[in-house]
Parts: sequence; structure tokens; C-alpha cells
Amino acid sequence: EQIPMVEALLEKMTVEQKIGQLNLVTPGGGIATGEVVSRNVEAKIKAGNVGGLFGVSGPNKIRMAQDLAVNQSQLGIPLLFGFDVIHGYKTTFPIPLGLASSWDMDLIKKTAQVAAKEATADGINWNFSPMVDITRDPRWGRIAEGAGEDPFLGSAIAKAMVEGYQGDDLTASNTMMATVKHLALYGASEAGRDYNSVDMSHLKMFNQYMPPYKAAIDAGAASVMTSFNDIDGVPATGNKWLLTKVLRERWGFEGFVVSDYTSLNEMVAHGLGDLQAVSALALNAGLDMDMVGEGFLTTLKKSLEQGKVTEEAITKACRRILEAKFKLGLFDDPYRYIDMDRPKRDILSPENRAIARKAAAASAVLLKNETGILPISKTAKIALVGPLADNRNNMLGTWAPTGETKYAVTIREGIANVAPSAKVQYAKGSNILDDPEMAKKINVFGPRVIISESSPEELLKEALASVSKSDVVVAVVGEATEMSGEAASRTDLRIPEAQKKMIRALVETGKPVVLVLMSGRPLNISEEFEMPVSILQVWHPGVEAGNAIADLLFGNYNPSGKLTATWPRTVGQIPIYHSMKNTGRPAEDPEEFQKFRSNYLDVPNTPLFAFGYGLSYTTFEYSNLKLSHDRIGQNQSIEVSVEIKNTGEYDGATVVQLYLKDVVRSITPPKRTLKGFKKVFLKKGEQKTVRLTLRADDLKFYNNELEFIAEPGVFEVFIGADSNATLKKSFNLQ
Ligand code: IFM
Repeated sequence: EQIPMVEALLEKMTVEQKIGQLNLVTPGGGIATGEVVSRNVEAKIKAGNVGGLFGVSGPNKIRMAQDLAVNQSQLGIPLLFGFDVIHGYKTTFPIPLGLASSWDMDLIKKTAQVAAKEATADGINWNFSPMVDITRDPRWGRIAEGAGEDPFLGSAIAKAMVEGYQGDDLTASNTMMATVKHLALYGASEAGRDYNSVDMSHLKMFNQYMPPYKAAIDAGAASVMTSFNDIDGVPATGNKWLLTKVLRERWGFEGFVVSDYTSLNEMVAHGLGDLQAVSALALNAGLDMDMVGEGFLTTLKKSLEQGKVTEEAITKACRRILEAKFKLGLFDDPYRYIDMDRPKRDILSPENRAIARKAAAASAVLLKNETGILPISKTAKIALVGPLADNRNNMLGTWAPTGETKYAVTIREGIANVAPSAKVQYAKGSNILDDPEMAKKINVFGPRVIISESSPEELLKEALASVSKSDVVVAVVGEATEMSGEAASRTDLRIPEAQKKMIRALVETGKPVVLVLMSGRPLNISEEFEMPVSILQVWHPGVEAGNAIADLLFGNYNPSGKLTATWPRTVGQIPIYHSMKNTGRPAEDPEEFQKFRSNYLDVPNTPLFAFGYGLSYTTFEYSNLKLSHDRIGQNQSIEVSVEIKNTGEYDGATVVQLYLKDVVRSITPPKRTLKGFKKVFLKKGEQKTVRLTLRADDLKFYNNELEFIAEPGVFEVFIGADSNATLKKSFNLQ
């Protein structure tokens, strides 16, 4: 349905003015993730050559820029103001992979609401989030930015985030437009190397990788960002099948599509022609806005004159940008997001920080609790060691360009806040890594890896001295912030050797050791897992890092996070994920090698930690699985119920997980796939019946014709606390 005001404006516009609206620029200020940074931004705005700005924030700066557009350009069309608000604005939440591990959709939505409130208080009206790329490759640094490996969970999170950012009224001054990114398949970059090529069957694409993008669009995401990779040989930014056939025609998307940072220009390097050719290709494919590269701005007019694009295509793209501005209410009031009083009131408020603390605690996953070392007594003598124990620069995580490290609480500070009677001896113990060349690559946005003047031996000696005076060792180890994220792929997923040496020495002392592990991805911790240690995975926890981790260590908060990406035993198992297929020669026992079966000579088929895995300080018993029907017809749903009892010594939460196996179908089925979950809290000794609904759509899959169908036959339902769930019941679909 056309918007009369927009149509009237389009009538008045010259083709140059329309092309101007398709141009998105950044004067710097955010993170420049490419070689190009826009020049002469002011002059371009005045000339009507800019549709939106990104990387600019704060009411003053945004007012200045909006003034240029509204008062000094000929048509006075207001600008969009975009930014990457990926896991919080100034109140930085855990990295998205961490947040996903909470499996708590209300909490995730709340974090998105807080992010929107803070970002809009600083004048931003368009967010480049959520990032919903499914990935099964922890080598890929951007696994940190998404929800992990699973399309069902990823879809639920995509929906929660879009709803959180956009609310139910985009004109409200505390909501902003969401951008679902990166369409499509960016998380499947070959070999986990960023920006690499993707080649995938349409079956796998539609069944495993596409659902979260679609879920975000169904939830009303106002914009879509294309990915850097090619798909079927055509980069996403110029891929007509993707941007028109799938996105518009199949999914009914009505918002606008923006490229990634210079991804339009990069089609030249992909080998598709010169800038004019790739710009025409992108417009004709369905791209509406060009981020930074100015291929549209500098070539579309010429392509129009040469008949390579039509004015109709330019008008269509421009219409979508103007409609977005209309939906935000910018034509009514271009300054609606500009209020000098709001930043002080709305940003980093105590309430927002309290949500960040809860989110960081809820994201942590207890991987191992050797002889119940955790929780620690609040009066214990603690040796607090490790390069991340007192390290403000590494708490926020990747892609937090609006966060400020100075506001982050370190683990050392958090312990002092939560357990003031504990006797803490602190020592750094080791560097994050000892290689200065590697440190240089990681320190692009600030000093994340600082190599001490003291030698590794001296650092270790200090740590061991503090251990000798303590009852328990808490070692905070893992990856620096920029060891994951964009352009931060790794082939070796072990904790850096500098820290491993320290960990070995700590364990040798015989004192109980807790490893608080920070990372932006699943690591290979096979060696540490064999040690007599407790392991608490905390990701990069955000601004309230120290307080949240202390809450966990001392039992104020019982760990309840569950992994959303499988942790391999070794990089050689990648890709490894819970919904793998059976193959024609499955290993009968996945732990035992069998010749001429699908397995490895050197490691079992099982991962180190399965999808959905995570311990608690208490224990839960699952029993009495029931299905409402043992036979259903097409388009009918099934109620699933199970009893859960908290059988341990602490109150706590578990995530009830439902997996489904389609036993026989025309396309080889996965061994099981997640089709339902619920996070439930139970007091010590409490018992609850938990009910989940298996909807008709949950039985469906895309067949070879890409039809979404359910095939009659037997389905098996598994319920449990991780993807190895064993409680099982079957039903028949007629
Ligand atoms: O939004 C990001 C994207 O995820 C990666 N390239 C840069 C964009 C804008 O900063």
C-alpha cells in the first residue's frame, strides 16, 4: 500500500535527488570496517546526496547533521541515523552468543528494549541488529555476534530482538528500526574465514540457515542488510534470486535493503565487473541503499542514460527509503529523537545496569563443577589470578562500539563488591598471549592484549605465591575481546599457550581451581576438561561483568545458561552440531572407532560439550513424559508435558528442551532437531509439570521443490536438559 505523502514527494524529485536517498555514509566515529570512510559528508548532505548517516551519535551532532538535511538541502528530506548497537548501547550486555545461552526470550527482549531506549536517547533511529546468521563453525570470529547453531532457537531470538528494538510503535521516541543481517548465509563462510565464499544446497539453506532471517522479517524488521559472501556464485548484494525472489516474493518483505560496508564495491573484487556494472547489478537485484561505497551515487545516472537501469527501479528503491523515514515519523518531526535531557536520564541508569548484571549472570554456562568447588564461601581465602581477572579493557566483548570500557566492572572489583569478607590475593599470572605480533593484530581498537614488562616466569611466580596463601584459586582466562568478532577468525581454538602454562602450574599446586573462562566462541578446552577443575564459561559478559561473575561464584545466582553452539573436542571435528544426519553408516557407539563406519581414527564422534548443555549448582530430574495424542492429522498440534523436580541443594533454573526426529521422510532427516524449549525456575525440592506445544509447522521441512510440508509417518519426541535428551515418546502423523 502506497503512502500518499511519499508518492507526492517522489513526484517532485529529480532522478539525482532519488539517487541521493540511496546513499548511506559515515563520517567515522563508529568502527570503520573497510578501507573507505566517507568524505565531504557535510557538502553531500546539503547537496541532497545522502539518505542516511551512521556512526554518529549524541543529540548535538545529530541535530547538526539533521539541520543540514532539513534546512539546507533543497527538498529538506530528513536523514536516517544508523549505528551498530549489537549488545547494548552504553549499558553493554554480554555478547549475543552469551545472551543466547540464557535461553530467556523475555530477558533478551528486555536487553533490546534497553538498547533502543539508550540509543534513541542519543539520537539514533536505526539499528544494524539483530545479527541472526546461523553458524556451525567456531573458527569464524563473528560466531560471537549471533545466537549459535540452531535455526529454531535463532528464530525465537531474532523475533525477541526485533520486537525489543521496534516495540509496537516505530514513531515512539524510544524505539528504533531493526536491521536483520546479514542476508544470507554469512555464518557459513568456508573454513570459518571471514568474508569467504559460501556454496550450499538450497535444501540446507532453507531448512537450516534461512529461518532466523525469515523470523525477523515476520516479526516486522524494517530493514535487511546483505552479506559479504556469494551465494550460488553471485554476491548477496547483487543476488536477484535472494533479494527479490526469496526476500520480496516468497517472504513478502516490504522494508528496505541496505548493503554491508562497501559490499557493493566488493563485487568488483569478487569478479563481477567494474563499479558501474556491479552497481547496476545490485539495483536490479533489489538493493535499495549503498553503505559507504557510493557506487549508486557515482554510477546510476550513467547506467540510466545507457539503459542499464530504469528510472522505475531507482524510484522503487527511493520509495522504500522514504517510506522508512515516514514510518519513523521523521517527516512529522525530523528531531523526534533529539532531546538534550534524555542521555543523562536514560543512558547507563542503575535500572539498565541491573538488567545487564542479570543478563551476564544468566548467560554463564557451568561446564564442569569438580567435586562441587562452586559456589565458593564468601569468607574464603581466594587466589584471584589470570590476565582477565582485573582487566577492564576486555569485559565488553566484540562489536561494542558505543560501549565504554571505563564503565566496566572487573572481576576483582565484583568480588570485592559481592564478598567484601573474602580475602583476595590478586596476581596477573600470565599474559593473554606472549606473541607481540599477534597482540598487534588484536589491538586495533585499543589495548586489549598488554604484554607485561615482567617475564612469564616472574608473572607465574607471583601467582603461585598468592596460591600458597589461599584455599581456592579463581583463574580468569581465555580470549581477549578482539580475538573474536569481525575479521578475527582463528584456526587454533585452544586457550593461548601463555595461559595454559599458568593453568597447568596452578593445578599442580593441588589447590581447588575454578577456571572462569571468557571467550567469544566455543573453544577447544579438551586438555583443561581433563584436569580436576571447575569451569564456568562467561563469554565477554559486558559492563556488569565483575558483579555478575561474583554473583555466580558465590552462589547469589545459580548458573542456568546452556550452550547454543556445540563445543568440539578438536578443530578437526568442525562442523559439528546437534542436528547432524545419521549417514548410511552411522557409528553404533559414537565413542568407539569402527572400521568402515562414519567416524574418525583419532577422536570420537561426540563433541566435548553438546548443544544445550550446561550444569547447575543443583540437580534436576526429568520424568513422566506425556504426549496429548499418539496420532494426529495434518495441521494439528500436540501438547507435550514432563515433570521436573529440583533434587539438589539449591534453588535454580533449568531449560526444558524438546527435540524431534522425523523417522522416515523423503529428504534424509537430521538425527534430531530442537523444536521447543522453556526455561523454568524451581525452588529446592520443588516439582513442576512443564508443558510445551509442538505446532503443526514444527513437523514441516522444505523438500526438494522447496515446499514447506510435513510427511506422514512416525515422529519421536525427546525431552531433556540438553541435546542428548533421553526421555522419548512417539506419535504418528496421518
Ligand atoms: O553492521 C556492520 C556489519 O555487521 C559489518 N560491516 C559494517 C557494518 C556497519 O558498521
